[in-house]
Amino acid sequence: MNLIDELSVDFLRVVEVAAVAAAKTMGQGDRRFSDHEAVEAMREELNKIELAGIIVIGEGERDEAPMLYINEEVGKMDDKRSTYPQVDIAVDPLEGTNLCATGTENAISVLAAAERGGLLNAPDIYMDKIIVGPSNKGRIDINAPVEENLKNIARGLNRDIEDLVIIVLNRDRHIDLIRQIRQAGARIKLISDGDLSAGIAAAMRGTGVHAVMGIGGAPEGVLTAAAMKCLNGDMQAKLYPFKDGDEERIKKMGIEGGFDKVYNVEDLAPGKNIVFAATGVTSGSLLKGIRFFGGGYRANSVIMTCTPEYKTTKFIDDIIIDSPEVVPVSLY
Ligand code: FBP
Repeated sequence: MNLIDELSVDFLRVVEVAAVAAAKTMGQGDRRFSDHEAVEAMREELNKIELAGIIVIGEGERDEAPMLYINEEVGKMDDKRSTYPQVDIAVDPLEGTNLCATGTENAISVLAAAERGGLLNAPDIYMDKIIVGPSNKGRIDINAPVEENLKNIARGLNRDIEDLVIIVLNRDRHIDLIRQIRQAGARIKLISDGDLSAGIAAAMRGTGVHAVMGIGGAPEGVLTAAAMKCLNGDMQAKLYPFKDGDEERIKKMGIEGGFDKVYNVEDLAPGKNIVFAATGVTSGSLLKGIRFFGGGYRANSVIMTCTPEYKTTKFIDDIIIDSPEVVPVSLY
């Protein structure tokens, strides 16, 4: 078993544990609490692994995030640490905090990892994105008119524009984008949150989603790129100024090219060895949510890897029984 395969087993456990912690808070209406539970569980689990990890995409800067903050060191802290694999880690312990707090579909727990420098240290600002699956690799251009992109996406999928389903976050900032997609004739699925799981769905056949367009979080953009690399999907993105101070922020981080720079998958996730793991918190188009039964739970995850030699995607249906006496009747 190589390092990527070994780590993928550990990371699967990490996202699963975080998803379970978040799922216990489902529908309680407190997104911060749900997030806190997921963060705490993820951190505890990460710190059991023999790895010298650094968080490059996390819950924000140290002052605002007590745990899983950017530059936090994670992994087992013992005297053998210098011998452990050095990895950069991007986390979103609960992607879709509102979705979990309201019991709405598509909340997931996510982690991606790569060798040092393998994931862009993106600022926590907005990012304009266009995300498509493998049949549209090389066919998208974020600077081109919406209709042109849709025509190319339809051609890549061998169908008409009218057959396409494009996911867009339901935000006021997308009024014009939505108008343009409608005018071009494509169908739209507006979502309240969660453009990361939407992006993964767009890169997988059979999900009924053909592209994601619009402005969401930049950290979610890097995580999406890690998944696209494993899935052979494609993505283009540009950082998007929204709040006062965003410009200074990216300058301070030494990001060149400002808001005009077009990022592709390789810019966002340049790593040669990448692991991406996600577990469903609430059921959605990609993954089922955590289902509890007396004495255990059932979790649905996806684990993807990308190495110079091969790429893999595995869906995992995990049944965990916490107490030996329990017969999980819901399985029969
Ligand atoms: P959280 O998990 O942090 O709540 O983010 C959910 C999300 O919908 C992302 O999927 C998306 O990229 C981003 O928020 C969009 O930001 P905003 O809600 O500010 O439009």
